[in-house]
Amino acid sequence: MKLDLPRYTERFGATSLHGVQRVYELDSGFDDGRPVSESIVNIGNNQIVDIEGRMAIVIPTKGERLRLLEGVLSGIPHDCLTIIISNSPRQPVDRYKLEKEALQQFNRFVGRNAFILHQRDPVLSEVLRDVGYNSILGPDGMVRTGKAEGMLIGMLLAKMAGKEYVGFIDADNYVPGAVNEYVKIFASGIAMSQTPYIMVRISWIYKPKISETGLYFSKWGRVSETTNQHLNSLVSYYTGFETEVMRTGNSGEHCMSLKLAELLTYSSGYAIEPYEIVNILEEFGGIIPTVNQDAMDKGVEIMQVETRNPHFHEDKGDDHLKEMVVGSLGSIYHSKICPPKVREKILEALRSKNMLEESQQQEPPAPHKIDPFKDIDVRQLAKVLSKASTYAQ
Ligand code: GDD
Repeated sequence: MKLDLPRYTERFGATSLHGVQRVYELDSGFDDGRPVSESIVNIGNNQIVDIEGRMAIVIPTKGERLRLLEGVLSGIPHDCLTIIISNSPRQPVDRYKLEKEALQQFNRFVGRNAFILHQRDPVLSEVLRDVGYNSILGPDGMVRTGKAEGMLIGMLLAKMAGKEYVGFIDADNYVPGAVNEYVKIFASGIAMSQTPYIMVRISWIYKPKISETGLYFSKWGRVSETTNQHLNSLVSYYTGFETEVMRTGNSGEHCMSLKLAELLTYSSGYAIEPYEIVNILEEFGGIIPTVNQDAMDKGVEIMQVETRNPHFHEDKGDDHLKEMVVGSLGSIYHSKICPPKVREKILEALRSKNMLEESQQQEPPAPHKIDPFKDIDVRQLAKVLSKASTYAQ
C-alpha cells in the first residue's frame, strides 16, 4: 500500500495526533526497494502479511443480517485471527446459533480459524468475576450489554491468543472490499509507527446516503461532525491553537497494539471510540500523572487514514443517532481534563439539538467506565473460555 507519511501532527504531551493521511495505491506489490516520493511511504505486501498474522480482528455484532456478516468475514485477510463477539437475541430464534453455523460453514471453505462467543454467556461472566474484572459486569453479575463490552471481550481473547494487534470492524458493512482495505490500512499504519503504543483509525472518504436524486456521497456523518468538533476544542484549549486535526472521533473501524489497548480505560456502549481519544489524552497528555511511564517514554501515536472505498453500512435511525451523540459528548464532558469552557459548548450543542431528556437538562449522563485489562490474568480466562468459545475449523 502506498500512503502519505503524516504531514501534520498535533503533539499533546507524549501523544502524537497525526492529521488524515491519504492512500495512493491499495496494493503496491512487494517492496522492490524502488524509492517513492519523499512524502509517500510504500508498505510492501510482505510487511502487511507479516503484521496481519500478528493481528486479531474483532467483529462486534448484535442481530445483524447474516448475509452482511458473511460478507465481512470474506473481506478479512486470511492470516488474521477472526473473533466474533455476539450479543444477538437467542429467542424466539437463536440468532447466535445461526451466526455460529455460518462461521463454521465459512471456515470449512476457507480453512481458517476463528472464535465466536456470546457476550452474555454465563460461563464468560463467571470467569470474569473470578478474575476480578468487575467493571465489565452489570448489576445482574453478567457482562453488560453494549458494543464496547463486546469489543473488550474481543480484546481479552486477542491477548489470550497471543496477538500483538487488535482491530475492530462492524458486522453491518455492505462492502467486503472495504473491509479488506481497512485491515490493509491497519497493517500499513502499524508498519509506519515509531512506537509500540499505536492506534490507527479509519477516516471514510465518503459515507453515501440515499437521497431523492440518487446516491449522495456525503463526507461526514451527523454524529462524527459534532464529536470531532468538541474533541478538537479540547485539544485546542490546551495547545492554545485552534485545530481540526481530529477527524475520526467516532470511527468504529480502528486498531491498536495490545500494548496500548490494555492500558486504556473504556467508556461503555457507543461512547467507546471518542473516549479512547480522551483517555489517551488523559493518560499520556502530560496533564495528569500516569503510572504508565514506558508509554510516556516511547510515546503514543494516533494515525488517521482516509480510505479509497466509501463506507456503506446499515442505517439505524434517529433514536440511535441521539444515543450515540449523547454518549460521545458525555464521555468528553465528564473527562477529568475537560475544561469548563468546553463543557459549556457541549451543553449548548446538546440543548440546541434537543438531545437531552427532561432529567438530563443540567448535564449529559456520565458513561459507565470499564477498567484497563493489563492486570487481568488471561491464562486463567483461557482455561474456561475454551469450553465456551467455538474454535471453528
Ligand atoms: N457484541 C455486541 N454487543 N455488538 C454490538 C452491540 C452489543 O451490545 N451493539 C451493537 N453492536 C454491533 C452492531 O451489530 C454492529 O456490528 C456494530 O456493533 C456497530 O453498531 P451499530 O449499531 O451498527 O452502530 P452504527 O453503525 O450506527 O455506528 C457505528 O459507527 C459509528 C461511526 O459512524 C459504530 O461503530 C459506532 O460505535 C461508531 O461511532
